[in-house]
Amino acid sequence: MNFFTISAFIIYFPIGAGQSCTEIIENLHYSCMGRNLSYIPSRIPSSVQTLDFSFNDLKWLKKTVFPVFTFLRVLDLSRCHIRQIENDAFYNVKNLTTLFLTGNPIIYFAPGCLNTLYNLQRLVLVDIGLESLQLNINNLTKLQELNVGTNYIQSMTLPPFMSTFKDFSLLDLHANNISIIRTNHTVVLREIGKNMTLILSRNPLLHIEPGSFKGVHLVELDIRSTFVSFASKKQGLNGLHGLNVTRLMFGMYKDDPKLYPSDLDYFDGLCSIHFYEAYYYMKERLDWKMNIFRCMINATVVVVKGGVIRVIGYVPFHKIKELYLINTQLYTVPGKQLSHIRTLEKFVFTHNSATQVEKFLDMPKLQYVDLNSNQITLQSCCIDVLSGTPQIRYLNLSLNPQISLDKGGFEGLESLEILDFHHTKLLGIGSFTLLSNLKNLRYLDISYSSVTFVNVYCFYGLSSLKVLKMAGNSFQGDVANYLFNNLTFLEHLDISYCHVIEIHLTSFKNLQRLRHLNLRGNNLMSIDFLTDPNLKQLTTFYVNKNSITTIPLDILQKLPMNLSEFDLSFNPIDCSCSQTDFMLWIINNQRVLKQPENILCKTISPNSDFRVTDFDIDHCVYKKKLIIALLVFCVVFIVVLSILVYRFQFYLRYCWILLRGYRSPGQQECSYDAFVIFSSYDEAWVMNELMENLENGVPPIQLCLHMRDFQAGKSIASNIIDEGIMGSRKIIVVVSQHFIDSAWCRFEFELAQSRFVVERNANIIIIILEDVAERKTKKVLGLHKHLKKNTYLKWSRDPLSNMRFWIRLRKAIVAT
Ligand SMILES: *[C@@H]1O[C@H](CO)[C@@H](O)[C@H](O)[C@H]1NC(C)=O
Ligand SMILES: *[C@@H]1O[C@H](CO)[C@@H](O)[C@H](O)[C@H]1NC(C)=O
Ligand SMILES: *[C@@H]1O[C@H](CO)[C@@H](O)[C@H](O)[C@H]1NC(C)=O
Ligand SMILES: *[C@@H]1O[C@H](CO)[C@@H](O)[C@H](O)[C@H]1NC(C)=O
Ligand SMILES: *[C@@H]1O[C@H](CO)[C@@H](O)[C@H](O)[C@H]1NC(C)=O
Ligand SMILES: *[C@@H]1O[C@H](CO)[C@@H](O)[C@H](O)[C@H]1NC(C)=O
Ligand SMILES: *[C@@H]1O[C@H](CO)[C@@H](O)[C@H](O)[C@H]1NC(C)=O
Ligand SMILES: *[C@@H]1O[C@H](CO)[C@@H](O)[C@H](O)[C@H]1NC(C)=O
Ligand SMILES: *[C@@H]1O[C@H](CO)[C@@H](O)[C@H](O)[C@H]1NC(C)=O
Ligand SMILES: *[C@@H]1O[C@H](CO)[C@@H](O)[C@H](O)[C@H]1NC(C)=O
Ligand SMILES: *[C@@H]1O[C@H](CO)[C@@H](O)[C@H](O)[C@H]1NC(C)=O
Repeated sequence: MNFFTISAFIIYFPIGAGQSCTEIIENLHYSCMGRNLSYIPSRIPSSVQTLDFSFNDLKWLKKTVFPVFTFLRVLDLSRCHIRQIENDAFYNVKNLTTLFLTGNPIIYFAPGCLNTLYNLQRLVLVDIGLESLQLNINNLTKLQELNVGTNYIQSMTLPPFMSTFKDFSLLDLHANNISIIRTNHTVVLREIGKNMTLILSRNPLLHIEPGSFKGVHLVELDIRSTFVSFASKKQGLNGLHGLNVTRLMFGMYKDDPKLYPSDLDYFDGLCSIHFYEAYYYMKERLDWKMNIFRCMINATVVVVKGGVIRVIGYVPFHKIKELYLINTQLYTVPGKQLSHIRTLEKFVFTHNSATQVEKFLDMPKLQYVDLNSNQITLQSCCIDVLSGTPQIRYLNLSLNPQISLDKGGFEGLESLEILDFHHTKLLGIGSFTLLSNLKNLRYLDISYSSVTFVNVYCFYGLSSLKVLKMAGNSFQGDVANYLFNNLTFLEHLDISYCHVIEIHLTSFKNLQRLRHLNLRGNNLMSIDFLTDPNLKQLTTFYVNKNSITTIPLDILQKLPMNLSEFDLSFNPIDCSCSQTDFMLWIINNQRVLKQPENILCKTISPNSDFRVTDFDIDHCVYKKKLIIALLVFCVVFIVVLSILVYRFQFYLRYCWILLRGYRSPGQQECSYDAFVIFSSYDEAWVMNELMENLENGVPPIQLCLHMRDFQAGKSIASNIIDEGIMGSRKIIVVVSQHFIDSAWCRFEFELAQSRFVVERNANIIIIILEDVAERKTKKVLGLHKHLKKNTYLKWSRDPLSNMRFWIRLRKAIVAT
């Protein structure tokens, strides 16, 4: 079976078995979304509590569609092509609390079908072609949310029985066809309770009958893009007169067209509505004399998003606590207009075009100032502009072009706890001690602020600092090793992407509370500093994207005890067999390591994605063993060989000479009659007796004697071979006690034997000069055997035997 048939089998099988739904939580939560199913798969257990069956093909809902799911709470039947719903359709899923029927082209809705669902809390009937809110849901007394957006409903009149629905809190009527609201349409709304959110956005509203909302209490009213014209907006807002609402959301949606009103009088109606929080989603481009805040002066929260406002005038807000001006294109941070608003606590001014900040004066309650994402360039920060805000705790100036910090710039701002300058170019902070009076500062973010830290006292005095983020800056020299010395409360330190090459063992010596340390994207090769016992609280440590090739085992063993997240990925790890300890540690500690699949070997191939966790340690162990075995073998071999060479050096030399000497046997002409092998102790006898008798006798016999005939300058061995053995016809061996003891004599004798073994000629004549024990003759290779097999001459002082000796010797030499 090949791969394709196997995979086809695997894919086909579950569909055949009806297992096409995804189990999200075993026995409780299943998703069958988009499977084109026309029935509920039998595999779904009866214990299911949440079932997403959207985007399937059910068409006709009747009792038999759902098995008995006693515990089913949430059922999503969105876009299932449902056309008919019978009375008993939900009989088997009675305990539902949430039902989605969005996007079904329902033609027939049996009158009692929803009434079985006594426990229903949330009913979503979006985009099902509904024309009226008069639904048969009188048994759904626990209903909290009814979402009937995107239908054709023309009247917001709720069925009268709903006034008893005590928990009802959301009526979403967005994108319907409501054009008129009359007093008797809101009767139920008025009775239903004070905790209601009403969404009327995107209806083509023309007219609200004055008084329709009188006495109505809402938590939230959303009328974004609800009116068809400026005129209807003006009339409609007047029609909301008497409404009491906590949050009022008005204006337009983002994708609506821009408006250019010449007058803002249509906002006057807001003055007759009682609201606490105004959320104005603005599309209008205002000219300088228009005042959008005129009717918002009693609000506590005002949010304006979008639109074009160039300047704002003075607004006598007298209860406001929070003001948000977001994406409004204001040129200036309007400190002057806001000064003296003594109730304001929070001011958020982001994504505008402001380049300048006006002074904030007399704002005793202002605690939170967020000016991020503007075009602000400040010459001297910060007391200059914030002198009237003694309670300020939060200041966010991130994502602006440039800010200069001055000496004493934070005097009077001691209550600051959170300061954020990230991605804003900061001048001054790297060279001077500017923050020393911020005793309450807990959080400082100066990431990517183009700062080069030159002065080790930059953070002097920040005795409460817990979080310091300074990624993407740089340090001059070894400033980084002293900069953090006194930050004893620090828990979180981010110095990623700061070009740090080395960190001293003592750099973090006082950071005993440090729990998160981020050193990502630097050039560190070593993490020795982590063994500092003061870092024992550390739980997360990131050194990914550095230059670490290895970490010694003794350092790994001393890592902080509670370290639970250690990111070592994307370092050029050395995966050679000398690093098996380190690699083994990585393999065994994947629980602690973050993204262990990205810890890659760089030694195997610089471009490969070979994972350290896939490295085969056994291979190294095997290799190690093999190398040790080979080494031992070599050493033993060399030792044995040396012993052998030493022991048999003589024979080796002899073999060598043999090989060399007989390369061309027999070609030499003999220049001597006999070569005499003797011990130098016997020289006297050889000179006086042997030479005398043989050379001076008749016929004279030419002897080769080493002390006389060997050529000077030639090695002894060569002389023995060339002159002695090869240059003589016969060899005379003078055996004595000294002969036996002399290595040279033995050597010569053996050489001589070998010549005559090769030439098969018994031309060795042995003279026994003195008696030698038989045991001793065995010491000389072949001598003993030679003496036994061949006749030898024995020297004697007795004159008679002496004469016989010389005759026999002469005969032996002359014989061919
Ligand atoms: C959905 O299933 C029906 C039969 O139940 C089939 O006719 C139709 O082609 C299927 N649609 C898709 C998109 O698979
Ligand atoms: C509804 O669920 C409750 C438990 O939450 C259970 O006691 C009750 O029997 C269920 N009712 C029905 C009709 O299934
Ligand atoms: C609605 O509730 C009433 C009484 O509470 C009951 O008689 C009636 O059968 C219920 N309707 C449905 C469709 O269950
Ligand atoms: C919306 O209501 C008007 C009457 O107020 C009606 O003429 C129009 O056809 C309705 N539009 C839709 C799409 O139902
Ligand atoms: C509301 O009043 C109008 C007349 O002013 C009447 O035609 C309509 O039936 C009333 N609607 C309800 C729900 O009472
Ligand atoms: C008001 O409704 C919200 C849900 O919309 C609910 O969380 C809150 O508890 C309700 N408050 C009261 C007082 O009923
Ligand atoms: C508005 O309603 C709240 C309670 O929801 C109430 O405390 C307040 O007094 C009301 N304001 C007016 C002006 O009716
Ligand atoms: C603000 O509230 C005061 C009463 O506190 C009221 O007189 C004034 O009309 C209100 N102004 C607006 C614009 O709602
Ligand atoms: C400051 O504003 C930026 C941009 O919205 C945001 O990401 C950052 O979290 C804010 N700083 C603080 C400390 O809340
Ligand atoms: C740390 O504090 C000590 C004592 O307060 C002080 O002498 C030293 O200069 C400080 N060092 C740094 C780098 O702030
Ligand atoms: C490690 O964590 C445990 C519990 O989270 C804590 O009790 C212990 O003090 C910590 N140890 C160190 C050395 O911080």
